[in-house]
This record gives sequence, C-alpha cells and structure tokens, in this order.
Amino acid sequence: MNVKRFGIDAPLLPLVYLVGGVWLLIYGYLNRMNYSVVVEMVLGAMMVIGAGIALHTTMRGKYRLFDQLIQQLAIDPHAQVLDVGCGRGALLTRVAQQLVKPGKVTGIDLWRSRDQSNNGVKQAQRNLDDLNVADRTELVTGDMAELPFDDNQFDVVTTSFAFHNIKRFKRRNQAVEEAIRVLKPGGTIAIIDTGHCSMQYQDVFLANHVQITESKKLGINGWWSGPWMGSYLVRGVKQ
Ligand SMILES: C[S@@+](CC[C@H](N)C(=O)[O-])C[C@H]1O[C@@H](n2cnc3c(N)ncnc32)[C@H](O)[C@@H]1O
Repeated sequence: MNVKRFGIDAPLLPLVYLVGGVWLLIYGYLNRMNYSVVVEMVLGAMMVIGAGIALHTTMRGKYRLFDQLIQQLAIDPHAQVLDVGCGRGALLTRVAQQLVKPGKVTGIDLWRSRDQSNNGVKQAQRNLDDLNVADRTELVTGDMAELPFDDNQFDVVTTSFAFHNIKRFKRRNQAVEEAIRVLKPGGTIAIIDTGHCSMQYQDVFLANHVQITESKKLGINGWWSGPWMGSYLVRGVKQ
C-alpha cells in the first residue's frame, strides 16, 4: 500500500544489490571448487539481504520513523509547516493529518524519479486528494537550495531523505541554511536523512543560531541495506 501510494526511494539501490548479489551467488556456485568462492558467496548473500533490508526501510521502516517523529514534534494544529523534498508526500500527508485550517503544510520538490519511483507533482497531489488533506496542503515546484519563501515564514520545517541527494558540500550547506532562513525564531527544524552528513547539518545549525535539541541514529528501520547506510535525526530550535 505504501509503495503503491508513495513509491520506492532510490529505486535503483535495491535493484543493484539484488542483481549483484544473485550474480555473485550463481558465480560462486559455478566456481565452487575455487577457494575465493567463500568470499563471493558471503558477499552475494549480504547483498541479497541488503536489498531486502532496503525494501523493508522504504516500504515500512521509514513510515515508523515518521510516526515517531510526528509524535515527538507535537505540532500545533494551526502551525505553518514546510516539508522540504516532500516527494509523493509520505511525511507531508502525515504532518497534514495533524493540522486544522488555517494550519497548513507546504511541500517543495523537484520531483526527480531517480530519487523516488514515479515521482511527480501530479502523483503527490493525487495522494493529498485521496487522503483528504488537500485543504491543508500546498505543493510547490522548486529547488531546496533556493527556497521561494520569505524569511521567518514557517513554525516547523521537516525534511526526510532529501538533503543527501545534493552531492556538492557547499550546495547542501546552502539547502540547510535556506531551511533555517524560512523558519521563525522559536521554530523547530527536523532533518531525517541517510548518508554521512549528520555532522555537517549540526555545524550549519550552530553557525546559524539553531540550538541542537536532538541528534540520534534511527536504527534498523532506517537502514538502506545495512548499518553502513543508516539514517539519523537531527533536530533543533532556531534562537
Ligand atoms: C528519497 S526522496 C524522499 C521523498 C520524501 N521526503 C519521502 O520521505 O518519501 C528525495 C526527494 O528529494 C527531492 N529532491 C532531490 N533534490 C532536490 C532539490 N535540489 N530540490 C528539491 N527537491 C529535491 C527528490 O525529487 C525526491 O522527491
């Protein structure tokens, strides 16, 4: 159900792991008289298991993480929220369900299909309509490193599995700075992401007067194949 509505994140990742793993297992089996076969078989098995874990995270795990985050944030029902890199709305719709008008959550994205399968503004809008949250939501097409919003506009800024897609360090810094710029003083920013940028985000928080209130790893529900590709939460309050 989640997959049908919200798609698969980084769809190539589980595919590459699965195909590579199966290939190594077959190759290892065919060469079973060879010594190096143990390495190939172990690596192949790890890749197949990794594909399964990545699928678990994208189909179930990340939704558990979102539910935990929503509980922690305890968002005011009338809040103005921004979800950066909202994709097809997996987190955005959960936030919207906490709100009542004039509370609103705005989602911004470039809708890149290599980052989420069948990504698109139409697909996201259909989800908002189907889940009856269209009256509390708005979708904007734009780059998260150049947000088309005023300073101090939002009470809460959320983002999930989006910032790491910006590969250049400086540009990623800029995206975090932008998220902080549009946040009201006293407002909360929560970043869920994967990759190895947790310290970078915390450095940007500190340089931009955001007090870090939480920084933690998110465990197996955020593994994109294994612990080497885990997820984390960095949360802060703008001073
Ligand atoms: C892995 S998806 C996650 C989507 C959603 N937050 C979720 O958790 O289901 C990453 C999203 O970031 C978006 N994205 C990547 N680079 C972006 C950029 N520079 N500006 C805006 N969105 C971007 C992609 O289009 C994609 O929708």
